[in-house]
Amino acid sequence: MAGSRRSVGIVGVGSALPEKVITNGDLEKMVDTSNQWITTRTGIKERRIASPETATSDLALTAGRRAMERAGIEPEELDLILVATTTPDMAFPSTACIVQAGLGAYNAAAFDLEAACSGFLYGLAIGEQFISSGVYETVLIIGAEVLSKIVNWSDRNTCVLFGDGAGACVLRPVTAGKGILSHYLGADGRGVKLLQLPAGGSRLPASAATVEQGLHYIEMQGAEVFKFAVRIMGEASLEALRRAGLAREEVDLLVPHQANHRIIMAAAKRLGLTPEQVIVNLDRYGNMSAASIPVALEEAVSEGRIRDGDNVLLVGFGAGLTWGAAVLKWGL
Ligand code: UT7
Repeated sequence: MAGSRRSVGIVGVGSALPEKVITNGDLEKMVDTSNQWITTRTGIKERRIASPETATSDLALTAGRRAMERAGIEPEELDLILVATTTPDMAFPSTACIVQAGLGAYNAAAFDLEAACSGFLYGLAIGEQFISSGVYETVLIIGAEVLSKIVNWSDRNTCVLFGDGAGACVLRPVTAGKGILSHYLGADGRGVKLLQLPAGGSRLPASAATVEQGLHYIEMQGAEVFKFAVRIMGEASLEALRRAGLAREEVDLLVPHQANHRIIMAAAKRLGLTPEQVIVNLDRYGNMSAASIPVALEEAVSEGRIRDGDNVLLVGFGAGLTWGAAVLKWGL
């Protein structure tokens, strides 16, 4: 970033995915849907589902540990743990505090961040600020979700879309010119009702009536979110590139939020990217909200699809409405 601020990069990535797989064929037996509809409208073929006893912090902890191992970081070196999630273990205390105790990272501050599917990108920007300004050296950002527990498994409009998982990255200072070159965050609260979980907060506290009315499940106006997503994925990407001083042609790899294959490909087209330059894993995991970008990033790194010096563009959108994008020059 500009001025005397330090460059900050991702020095380790990790992920955690539940073992249990639910295929489109399984869903055909649960709701009035078809493998053909789900595949052609979304690109999703299967998703991972956490066991009843697994909470978001369990997946977050595993992903965080793996990222720290890759980075060669000990728990006591962490200055901040940030968990982006829409499915915290409970309203309070934060899932980040539960992860901190699990890691034994008692020198770290810890808090949760709610920006829905954009949460990981919001977290990346916050972590970058703390390190570039010299306040912290080492920050762990985790995007983690157990969406299967807030999905209405009798609503075909939503239950086919989501999956569970967690992805994490360790941020540290890196060589000048490498790491996070830019970020861009945005929100439009006029869209709050397009994607929400209405009850369980201070507006509609949990009661027998809210449970009976099914108000503790995800509600979504899918077509409206789709239109917004197609527009904002392109716009946010271009703004982040402008802030990084890069042209579209200089992007090596796009790691987008994994909500819908058609949304991802619309963004790729606007950026002039080939399918080979785009990381897609929603066919295997569905939409994991805040976990989707870090899990995709971890896979891209593990598969050797990101090379030192590559310009990597991350972009996502979510409930709120919110959006975010970041440009990284990969490497230490
Ligand atoms: O991370 C952010 C989270 N949300 C999103 O990213 C969602 C963004 N939106 C989308 O991905 C798409 O809008 C959907 C995949 C949710 C829906 O695709 P669509 O092409 O926008 O379909 P639609 O909502 O316009 O619905 C078309 C039809 C409807 O039937 P009628 O009213 O035309 O008779 C739906 O009832 O498809 C029906 N439908 C289904 N049919 C079979 C909706 N869900 C299903 C289903 N199986 N699972």
